Amino acid sequence: MCGIVGYIGKRKAYPILIKGLHRLEYRGYDSAGVALINEQGQLNVYKAKGKVAELEAFCAEKDTCGNIGIAHTRWATHGEPNTVNAHPHYSESERLAIIHNGIIENYAVLKAGLMEQGYTFKSDTDTEVLVQLVEYTQVNRHVDLKTAVQLALQQVVGAYAIAILDKEHPDTLIAARKGSPLVVGIGKDEYFLASDATPIVEYTDQVIYVEDEEIVALRLGEKVDITTINNVAKTPEIKRLELSLSQLEKGGYPHFMLKEIFEQPRTLTDSMRGRVNVQQDNIALSGFIDNKDRFLNAKRIIITACGTSWHAGLIAMYAIEEYAQIPVEVEYSSEFRYRKPVINKDDVVIAISQSGETADTLAAIQLAKEKGAFIFSICNVVGASIPRLSDSGCYTHVGPEIGVASTKAFTAQVTALTMLALCIGREKGTVSQTQFEHLVQELGQIPQKIAQVLQQNQRIAELAHSFTDTQNFIYLGRGYNFPVALEGALKLKEISYIHAEGYPAAEMKHGPIALISEEMPVVVVAPRCAIYEKIVSNIQEIKARQGQVIAVVTEGDEQVRKIADHCIEVPATEECLTPLLTVIPLQLLAYHIAVAKGCDVDQPRNLAKSVTVE
Ligand code: AGP
Repeated sequence: MCGIVGYIGKRKAYPILIKGLHRLEYRGYDSAGVALINEQGQLNVYKAKGKVAELEAFCAEKDTCGNIGIAHTRWATHGEPNTVNAHPHYSESERLAIIHNGIIENYAVLKAGLMEQGYTFKSDTDTEVLVQLVEYTQVNRHVDLKTAVQLALQQVVGAYAIAILDKEHPDTLIAARKGSPLVVGIGKDEYFLASDATPIVEYTDQVIYVEDEEIVALRLGEKVDITTINNVAKTPEIKRLELSLSQLEKGGYPHFMLKEIFEQPRTLTDSMRGRVNVQQDNIALSGFIDNKDRFLNAKRIIITACGTSWHAGLIAMYAIEEYAQIPVEVEYSSEFRYRKPVINKDDVVIAISQSGETADTLAAIQLAKEKGAFIFSICNVVGASIPRLSDSGCYTHVGPEIGVASTKAFTAQVTALTMLALCIGREKGTVSQTQFEHLVQELGQIPQKIAQVLQQNQRIAELAHSFTDTQNFIYLGRGYNFPVALEGALKLKEISYIHAEGYPAAEMKHGPIALISEEMPVVVVAPRCAIYEKIVSNIQEIKARQGQVIAVVTEGDEQVRKIADHCIEVPATEECLTPLLTVIPLQLLAYHIAVAKGCDVDQPRNLAKSVTVE
């Protein structure tokens, strides 16, 4: 996700745009840029790799005059984070400049058509294709900018929030949205535009939330003009902002972590966009398609990761061995890099990392690469060190994860790895077409099923209050949900500082059951699965020793409900997909216990979001 800002009005645009980018930097920060039309009618575009501060330094000696401009801070989805791919993007003639937050799914087809018309491209981005399409439409259909944008967007498939300038019309700022947020601020003799209200709130509390497939024309001295991309006039609905600046950066949530937990229906939809096609019962993972033989001939898959990413790797082990029938080893990167592992040239090594900068995981794949293995990374930061060192990979596209405790990145990692396991299995014939199609349908329903689980947030918050003085927790799970038990324990540990251990449920009787007492709450992840009756027995063993059980069960489960102290229900789904649902209550439970304890949820003590040191 990226941040966009626009301004047209009585004041100098540049300072307002830069300050707005700083407010939006939490949305993405791998490069930034600004476009301004000065009094001489020149359209100046300045861009810099890195944070907004780099752009400010670059602009220090530049002509930043002009009372109209747009600016962008980037979270790369297409094209490496560098100056060329940074926004704004000029059109071919440099008459137009555009900024964009979103993904144009059919950009390749549109680009090919424009290249046939003689257009050339400087960047690898989908955004540059869009501005060229607008210019091509404006010139060949002899229409004004707004109409050209309307006609161009009618051809676009994907998500966008855009703002575009035409140096021949310095009195007009055009914007549009579909699937990505866009807010208009109404000041006195000035208009603001932004991805959310944080760049606007200090200037005005009068805002318009632009709806999907709407185009906005902001012209000085005129009222806001809103139409659909099919040119149906809309009456702007002006609202008053009631949130504080700090709350606004978190989308109204008290913490980034809760915001990111609640984002998961959307972020998983984003992560699957262009990959899972439920209409065609298909999964298209370019990283797999381009390297099929590597996976089909692999004698072994080694997964290397740390922390939550390592838990995602454990879940992948169950899925890959079940559906692709390739032996999998899951390694802690910090151990793998030093234990002199045997690595063969026909090994596939999968590195999982949200940040793409974890030192131990980076070192682990450096070692594997030196020994000739094929490196495939699952990462959330385009252009980070780990994907750059990898032979191929799959970006999770969930946008910046600000909370130190990983949530939306984890579910996206599990989704990506499940897609990979199914793609390999279908190619190898170890997954039948019927089974494959059923799993694709189930995968497509996961975002809405997560939304259903999130509706229990308040109930989980109330449950959490009874554990603020608890000193220890045990988390149990089996099969696909054993790693979920580990993840739930880690979430609690890292944000509430309560000691928690995850175990395979059947392992309890080999020692840990000695810990069970009334003072030791036990969270059991027990959805319907092949070994459901076994885990019910494990729950009974705990209850027989006065243990307190909080169970995560499949909705409608009456058996566990009779014996557990608390039950949190999740919708039914295929066993391999249950972790995507059962982890949600554990994320919420950890969050609410930590909040009830007054902990710093987003920045827990002793931790960092990316561990770039050993
Ligand atoms: C998880 O909540 C923690 N933030 C931590 O365990 C994290 O998963 C680990 O440091 C790995 O980070 P990475 O995914 O960026 O490599």
